[in-house]
Amino acid sequence: MPLSAPRCDETVAWSALAGHAQVHGRELDLRQLFQDDPDRVQRLSLQAPEVWADLSRSHWDVATQRHLLDLARECLLADRRDALLAGAAVNTTEGRAVLHTALRAPKGQGPHSEAVHAELDRMLAFAERIRARAGGEQPGDIHDVVHIGIGGSDLGPRMVIAALAHRLHPGLRLHSISNVDGQDLGALLPRLNPAHTLFVVASKTFTTQETLANANTARQWFLDAGGTEIDRHFVAVSTAVERVRAFGISEVFAFWDWVGGRFSMWSTIGLPIALGIGADGFRELLAGAHAMDRHFAEAPFEANLPVQLGLLDVWYRNFKGYTSRCVAPYAQGLRSLPAYLQQLVMESNGKSVDAQGQPLPYATSDVLWGEPGTNGQHAFFQMLHQGSDVVPVEFILVARPSYPAVLQASPALQAALKQQHEALLANGLAQAQALMWGKTEAEALTEQAPTASPALAPEVIARHRTFPGNRPSLTLVLDEVSPRSLGALIALFEHRTFVSGAVWGINSFDQWGVELGKALCQQLLPRLQSGDTAGLDASSAALIGRLRQG
Ligand code: F6P
Repeated sequence: MPLSAPRCDETVAWSALAGHAQVHGRELDLRQLFQDDPDRVQRLSLQAPEVWADLSRSHWDVATQRHLLDLARECLLADRRDALLAGAAVNTTEGRAVLHTALRAPKGQGPHSEAVHAELDRMLAFAERIRARAGGEQPGDIHDVVHIGIGGSDLGPRMVIAALAHRLHPGLRLHSISNVDGQDLGALLPRLNPAHTLFVVASKTFTTQETLANANTARQWFLDAGGTEIDRHFVAVSTAVERVRAFGISEVFAFWDWVGGRFSMWSTIGLPIALGIGADGFRELLAGAHAMDRHFAEAPFEANLPVQLGLLDVWYRNFKGYTSRCVAPYAQGLRSLPAYLQQLVMESNGKSVDAQGQPLPYATSDVLWGEPGTNGQHAFFQMLHQGSDVVPVEFILVARPSYPAVLQASPALQAALKQQHEALLANGLAQAQALMWGKTEAEALTEQAPTASPALAPEVIARHRTFPGNRPSLTLVLDEVSPRSLGALIALFEHRTFVSGAVWGINSFDQWGVELGKALCQQLLPRLQSGDTAGLDASSAALIGRLRQG
């Protein structure tokens, strides 16, 4: 953090925002704002590469934005962004640069370009070699790829592969295994043929318990099932090449300590993606992210979508008091996006000290959660509409659906699928409308409620059927789910997370909070195995005793 940057809550803009929240914030009613300003959508929507954002249903106005931009200036956001992109050691607690943007810069641009592109080319050549013979019947021709990793070494490839299902090589089945629970891998192994399976063991550190346990079991299964030529069936992706070799895998695709785990899908961690969508598709993914990087680096803050969203996050968290946000992609392919974003946002900004280790007196990361629409509507949307907490919702709508080519043969089938897509979009639009407009008691009274109990007075039923409305949402629109648009969308969330973290003055790139549980697990494992609970807290001792009875 540049020494001259004040803590965000000590800035003039922070006080101004607090005052603004008192006056405007409490009275802010979206319905009124739309009535007062017919240009609200134009004023508060933004086009970034591949993503159009309607921020007009957010709980803010132009004055809020002005104060937030002042806050960004006082917190030296532009300097911090430039330091990040230039490769300064912004991950101070680990003394590292944070350069995932260098992984998607075109050849000859950005830091470490030569090394990045050499390893990228090598990985893509490997992926193309596998793809060229995928589904074939010669020994070594691959039918199944099992990607073993967890957290940042799993969530990105898992999410992208689901999103781009329509683009995957038809001869390859791609599987992701992460949980140390052997049921994850155990359910898959009986369906595999060792002669036609490729295991990709992905771990930045190559010390992660879950990944090593799964890799170990996979290797044991491979040998037991008569597999030969382990070298052709196990490859690894890691920064710890020596550890991989010690484990017995010789083909390693490398990356570097300046790539954070949750920002690593652009590196060789993306190998399963490349196997699925090929070298050209992978390069498109990188190009989409790079376009968003340029936007983040160059667009004025007023028109800079990651900056605007990151500032909105600060406004919501610190001045509106919202503690969580729901991400609802109206695209089944994006079903794994909320899980991916959970790590990105909450591992990055779930901190209570600043970059210098000083305790922070203000709130940082919110809780991110979500499910694809329309499934979420039949689960938790009740709470979003009528619950006592206000939860901002982020809709992601996709103009054109993507189906595998085989479904495009019959016009009648195409028409049926088109109708489904229109229904999907209409549902997303309807939810955003319902959140904003709500329904008054008077409106509810005028309606019939066929399932309401006749024993109750209409006024009572009407109170149950009232929606407060004025609930905030925002909508991100993509033309289609393609490697390019997905790259841009993910980079948007990365930079947005950096922006709020930078304003809060925290290090968004370490994750010390996951260490304690890992260390305690190492201590508890022998206790669980032996039953020796001496000196343990009473609850842990009782639980171990009970589990050992089972
Ligand atoms: O959950 C903690 C964490 O360190 C993540 O940050 C990381 O993505 C994950 O574990 C996996 O680590 P590795 O790639 O070293 O196996």
